[in-house]
Amino acid sequence: MHLKLQSCAVSWVLLAGLARADADDAKYKHVAFFSIDGLHASDVPKWVSAEPHGAIASLLKTGYWYAGALTSAPSDSFPGIVNLVSGAKPAQSGIWYDDGYGKLHFACPWHQRAVVYDETKDYDNTKLWSSPNPTVVGGNIDPANLPQAMVRGECINLYPHQRLRVNTIFEVVHPHGQTAYTDKHPAYDMVRGPSGKGLSVGYFPEIQSVDTTNVTQIIGYDTLHVQAFLDWIDGKTPANTEVQEALTGIPKLFGGNFQAVSVAQKSYGYEPHTVAFTPQLTTALTFVDDSLGKVVAALQAKSVLHDTLIIVCGKHGQTPVDPTLFRRVDQHLIAPAAGVTVSQVTADDVALLWLADQRDLAKAVAGLEKARATLAIQDIIYGDRLRDLGFGDPAKDPAVPDIIIVPDLGVVYTTSHAKIAEHGGLSADSRNVSCFVSNPSLQKREFDGPVSTAQVAPTILKALGLDPNELDSVKHGGDDLDVLPGF
Ligand SMILES: *[C@@H]1O[C@H](CO)[C@@H](O)[C@H](O)[C@H]1NC(C)=O
Ligand SMILES: *[C@@H]1O[C@H](CO)[C@@H](O)[C@H](O)[C@H]1NC(C)=O
Repeated sequence: MHLKLQSCAVSWVLLAGLARADADDAKYKHVAFFSIDGLHASDVPKWVSAEPHGAIASLLKTGYWYAGALTSAPSDSFPGIVNLVSGAKPAQSGIWYDDGYGKLHFACPWHQRAVVYDETKDYDNTKLWSSPNPTVVGGNIDPANLPQAMVRGECINLYPHQRLRVNTIFEVVHPHGQTAYTDKHPAYDMVRGPSGKGLSVGYFPEIQSVDTTNVTQIIGYDTLHVQAFLDWIDGKTPANTEVQEALTGIPKLFGGNFQAVSVAQKSYGYEPHTVAFTPQLTTALTFVDDSLGKVVAALQAKSVLHDTLIIVCGKHGQTPVDPTLFRRVDQHLIAPAAGVTVSQVTADDVALLWLADQRDLAKAVAGLEKARATLAIQDIIYGDRLRDLGFGDPAKDPAVPDIIIVPDLGVVYTTSHAKIAEHGGLSADSRNVSCFVSNPSLQKREFDGPVSTAQVAPTILKALGLDPNELDSVKHGGDDLDVLPGF
């Protein structure tokens, strides 16, 4: 009798403990995450000393800074955002670049093998909005511009989200609360994940409708994203939002990007040798800092700042930081140097080559070896090394390039005279990105060790009390994809 009573009491205590642990798991009610596209890890301390009373400095006072954060390789915006929202690297996600490649079905009317998901998917990319149905999910993409694939004997239009092979944090969070995201093109439909259902609301004004070399115009463009953040915190949506279901309050998970820093880096960059910020870059940083300040103030005004984890981690950096290293090499020289039929070359501060016939690999590599000086090649990655480095196997997966060319630091394969820097490559300048998290309850900490921006996805789920194992990347990764240190 006595024993029984005791065990009753014990189980009551245990149950209470479990209930408490459950509530504790959901440490935050909301996560707001932002990519300051282009911002390097090295820019963070520089900016904080330039603007010690700014919003970023203030966020870091109660936040964790990850000084050794690396984005995906390659570091194009598309694999960069996939890293953040799914935790998957290109070999797993199938997303290598906005300008990728795949073997689509040749029986379909639109079967081109380049799988391009950028502004060319719009109805008219000279306009911010050009769709007859801008508020429909995916409605800002013109189906006539989409590649097609054969699914169960039928040619279907392949929307960007259908190209992604893994689920996203938006899909995991959506059954538990509302989700919102904004980025550069309607093609960021991709973040919805393979189900197409991850976002309650998506806001995708077309960035190419403004001059993407002009900092003033890009700040104007980014201001649309900032207004969207402020509207969401108000439980509202801006006009032309793609709506799956109307917001009923502040989304559980929301985020988006800033482009101003990236544009200022590409057009003006850093001062030679000293790598101090140029005035234009300072203008862009000031705008982003002020904008983050507005988001924090809005969260505070709604009394949800303590319940919100703010994450600022970049999709990519920019190469080179020191403009004296910049060198332009014509991307059109690459395929002829390979000396075989190349189906596709995707080039920035890296070049990805997909060969028409994979039996030509040795010949192509020999041709590129001979052109090392002309093409300023530092490294040619192919074959076993490509697989060993975790890039996947082009023999088994048509999305994987046959050859990755890594040029010397500072080389950009381009004929454009409008830019002095680019990203997409494997260098530290393109991959070492700004990454920090903040909440008023956190103690200021700095983590110096290497972390991956892929860790952001499981961290967001854990912060919201959800199971990181619901991510395909965590379940099937075999890569020990863990939450960020401190969580
Ligand atoms: C880039 O990040 C890696 C991994 O954290 C680190 O080892 C390396 O020193 C960093 N390089 C630069 C130039 O910051
Ligand atoms: C950038 O755009 C603004 C607004 O359209 C214009 O006034 C300015 O002259 C442009 N700047 C450059 C450098 O082209």
